[in-house]
This record gives sequence, structure tokens and C-alpha cells, in this order.
Amino acid sequence: MQNNHSDVIKYPKPFLKWAGGKKQLLNEFGKILSPVIKDKNTIKRYVEPFVGGGALFFYLKRKYDIEESFISDINKELILAYKTIKIDHKSIIDKLEEIQNKHLQKSEDKRKEHYYQVRNEYNLQIENFDYIKFNEKWIQRTSYLIFLNKTCFNGLFRQNQKGEFNVPFGRYKNPKIYDEKNIIAVNHTLKNTGIYCGDFTQSGRFINKKSILYLDPPYRPLNKTSNFTTYSKKGFGDEDQKRLALFFDKMTRKGAYIILSNSDPKNNLPDDNFFDELYNSYNISRIPAKRFINCDASKRGELNELIITNF
Ligand SMILES: C[S@@+](CC[C@H](N)C(=O)[O-])C[C@H]1O[C@@H](n2cnc3c(N)ncnc32)[C@H](O)[C@@H]1O
Repeated sequence: MQNNHSDVIKYPKPFLKWAGGKKQLLNEFGKILSPVIKDKNTIKRYVEPFVGGGALFFYLKRKYDIEESFISDINKELILAYKTIKIDHKSIIDKLEEIQNKHLQKSEDKRKEHYYQVRNEYNLQIENFDYIKFNEKWIQRTSYLIFLNKTCFNGLFRQNQKGEFNVPFGRYKNPKIYDEKNIIAVNHTLKNTGIYCGDFTQSGRFINKKSILYLDPPYRPLNKTSNFTTYSKKGFGDEDQKRLALFFDKMTRKGAYIILSNSDPKNNLPDDNFFDELYNSYNISRIPAKRFINCDASKRGELNELIITNF
């Protein structure tokens, strides 16, 4: 599939809903990155170690030729899904078709029952699951993850201490579980992409002078109640934000073009200079963005997002 560098292209796009997805900031990122993508609309190397749903990754794939990319995340279920679609997207499509048909034929109560049945099976599978070597079970697990993601409450991914997915049923009228054309496009796009599971620091080995590095860590909570930072069993606290700032410095020295986004603590606490101090030698801008992940609908609204670059 040839990119024709047009915004009209719809695919590939994220195949999962992911908290903190950056859909609404894409144009802003595009403007910031365009001066560093000088060479015939080609990005030589793109590295994204907090990839989540991959909103920027897929956006750039729609717009530019990217010679090679490396995506990673600490969430092993998410990374399993990327790897499985890369290896055998056809079986994923067949399996999703089967689950979707089964689900949509049911009445609402029966759909709820079906959701919990799949969630239960998904959780029972954790024990003895081989995340390293591709096997048949990867197809079922990835299809289940996509199904659960599209039918659970708010598209959240949350696990208990045992690593079990524990988000309740979501009650959608006609949930669209998957888009076949998109799964095909995602498979295509992952061909020249390295996919890894691990802490963000491990992506340092892929960084060189020509890399664009996008860092989108879990939000620093704006207040005590909006603490949705647990995409994985381990959270992401201020110590991790500081580790990330050191990584930012190190990768700057390697010559990468870096762009980082985070919530702006000044939204709530105007005197909070946490990020201003951590990144005081770089460019910091504040962009208005809508925030959707808050259990209390009245608290979803427009808030500033921080964008920090080293160029
Ligand atoms: C704000 S989300 C990224 C959202 C993404 N940009 C998108 O468009 O969907 C942050 C991601 O960081 C991952 N994460 C949390 N701690 C991490 C760590 N120490 N190293 C790498 N990834 C981590 C989470 O699993 C989550 O997917």
C-alpha cells in the first residue's frame, strides 16, 4: 500500500480505544514535526515507547513514508495484540467476525452474559500463557482483547493485582468491534516495525541521530480523584516522570528529535512547576485539549496539555 501523503486517507488507525489517546492533538503534532521531516516526506526512524493505541504512530503512517519504526509499551497484552496482527491478521479477522456475529445476535441481557463469559475465559488464560513464542492461543487472546475493549465500560484497560482484566460491561447499542479494512492496513503498516514489550528506557537502543522519538507517558494525576494512570499493575509516579526526564536528556545527546506530551498540572494548581523545572532547558508549550477519561462526566472538559520538544 503506497502512502499518497494525504490527510484524507482513513487507514491505518488505532484498532483499540486507549486512555490518553492523542487523536485530537494530531494536527498540532503534525505542525510541530513538519520542519524536521524535511527529506521528501520521509521519516527515517520513528520510535514510540509508550505506544498505547498508537494514535500518532498511525497518523504519521497515513501521512508519511516511515522507513523503520520501533514501538513498545509495558503492557504485555497490548503488545501481544500488535504482534499477533503483524503475524496473522487473517485469523484475527475470522475470529473477530465469529465473536461479533455471536454477540450482536443476542439481546442486551445475553450480551452482558456473553461479555462476562469472554472476560472470564480471557482471565483464566493468563496462567501458563506463552507471551514469547507465537502459537494458536495468541489469535484467541488478541481477538478477546479487541472484543472486550470495544464492549467494556469506556474502553478502559484495567487489571487487578493478579493481572486480571476487571472492567465491567459497557452497554453499547451496536458496538463496532472491528473494521476489517483497518486490520489489514494495520498489518501492512507493522511490517517494517519492531514491536517490543518493556520499560521505556529499553527503547534507547533504537535511537540514533535520525530518529523521531515520541514520548507519551501516563498522565501525572491532576488531582487525587483523577488518578487514571494505571495502565499496568505498576503505576507511573513522579519518580518515573523524573527517570523519563533523564532519558529525555540522554536521547537528546544522541541527537534524536524528541516530542513529549503530558497533562499540565497548572490546570489545577497554577503554582505547580513540576514539568517546568524538569524540562527547563527545552521548549514547553501549552495546548488546549479535551479530556475524556474521567468517571465523572462533569469533570471531562477542556484542559491544557503540555508539549515539550528539544528542537
Ligand atoms: C498516555 S498512554 C499512551 C497513549 C498513546 N499515545 C495513544 O495514542 O493511545 C501511556 C502508555 O504508557 C504505558 N506505560 C506505562 N508505564 C510504562 C513504562 N514504564 N514504560 C513503557 N510504557 C509504559 C501504558 O501501558 C500506556 O499504554
